[in-house]
Amino acid sequence: MSKNTVTITDNRTGKSIECPIKDGVHGPSVIDSRNLYKELELFTFDPAFVTTASCESKITFIDGEKGILLYRGYPIEQLAKNSSYLEVCYLLLYGELPTEDQMKNFRGSICQHTLLHEGLSNFYKGFQHDAHPMAMLVGVVGALSGYYPDAMDIKNPEHRNMSAIRLIAKLPTIATRIHKYLIGQPYVYPRNSLDYVSNFMYMMFSRPTMDYEFNEKANRALEIMLILHADHEQNASTSTVRLAGSSQAHPFSCVAGGIATLWGPAHGGANEAVIRMLHNIGHSRNIPKYIDRFKDKNDPTRLMGFGHRVYKNYDPRATIIRESCHGLLKDLDMSQMPLFETAMELERIALEDDYFIERKLYPNVDFYSGIILSALNIPLNMFTVMFSVARTVGWVSQWMEMMNEPDLKIGRPRQLYLGNSRRDYIPMDKR
Ligand code: CMC
Repeated sequence: MSKNTVTITDNRTGKSIECPIKDGVHGPSVIDSRNLYKELELFTFDPAFVTTASCESKITFIDGEKGILLYRGYPIEQLAKNSSYLEVCYLLLYGELPTEDQMKNFRGSICQHTLLHEGLSNFYKGFQHDAHPMAMLVGVVGALSGYYPDAMDIKNPEHRNMSAIRLIAKLPTIATRIHKYLIGQPYVYPRNSLDYVSNFMYMMFSRPTMDYEFNEKANRALEIMLILHADHEQNASTSTVRLAGSSQAHPFSCVAGGIATLWGPAHGGANEAVIRMLHNIGHSRNIPKYIDRFKDKNDPTRLMGFGHRVYKNYDPRATIIRESCHGLLKDLDMSQMPLFETAMELERIALEDDYFIERKLYPNVDFYSGIILSALNIPLNMFTVMFSVARTVGWVSQWMEMMNEPDLKIGRPRQLYLGNSRRDYIPMDKR
């Protein structure tokens, strides 16, 4: 019997199967159970994929116990300190940090595709003035597949690459246009002489009636936020993109599926919840009362932006974004504003409270990203759109990796059926 196997025995029949154990570079090894049904006529049962590796991947690695996050092997701390968001995009897409020439060409390709087809303006106009920006984002990105039927040859690596470039290039234009549409201001077209982040801020906040003043510190805080949210391995939205992609659907519609999944409050909506909570608290003098509520088992209110399903020690992204957040508030002279004062006091009190210390509940990335986005004047209902802009590269990188697999199969989970057993149709007058 090989050492690198797990023996699974069906005690009802005495039949056994040897399942190979496969080792990754980091992280837990996996049991390859693909022959289980063929040999034992059994499925595995793992709702919410809590212990199931759904794919092989070389893109992102997370160790929740040790608080490690690597993109293509590079620690997130090093990338956040030294890299730009576009360089991280290149790394996630192609696996290596770019040379100067490669970066220049990549940037050039992105710049060529920042414009939207003018026909899309009519699509925007179909939305109500109070539509949720995420509803618009899902719709517009899905609609975009209609403008690029040429990208349908997903077996062609050049077509795949073109789709990836188009999505990364157009997401800021799409997102900022949503904001402008909802506040009734004229659209601002991209300016390709600007870097990715400055272009975003320019399209989001400039107006034809006045000059727009860039703030380097604000831009860098946004850049760091985008880098930290660029990928997070097989989370719900990424798994959605992969599953949709496995049917060979158009890449833009796969990403629209990812955006729809991210919209949920259990996934991308937590940073918005942090700011709503801070508004509810209202003033730092009310914090002790709220802390009691967060700890009360009979009260469903939780301290939003604290705790994490995977990171049980600390969220490495939170350490980076915390510094960026504190620095930004100081630079913008906003630390004394009531909302931010409450946030900083809440952070201090919770970090010293035994309840949170014993349960290893630390601030997560959303605690600070919500505060940063508020400080940058991004409206609350646009927060998940910002997350979508950042995560688009993760979705397309994972999609490209999957489409490169030589034996790509359509994803098809199985089930444990608990419904009625076979029964015969009863005519309506006899029911
Ligand atoms: N406030 C108060 N108590 C908490 C909190 C919180 N935020 N989080 C966990 N707990 C308590 C929980 O009640 C439990 O206590 P006890 O052991 O006495 O029953 C203990 O801590 C363990 O909690 P859990 O629910 O088993 O932990 P989990 O891993 O299932 O939940 C979580 C993780 C993120 C859903 C949760 O911490 C939470 O709801 N946090 C607030 C929402 C939030 O900030 N979400 C964003 C997560 S980061 C998203 C990303 O990576 O993009």
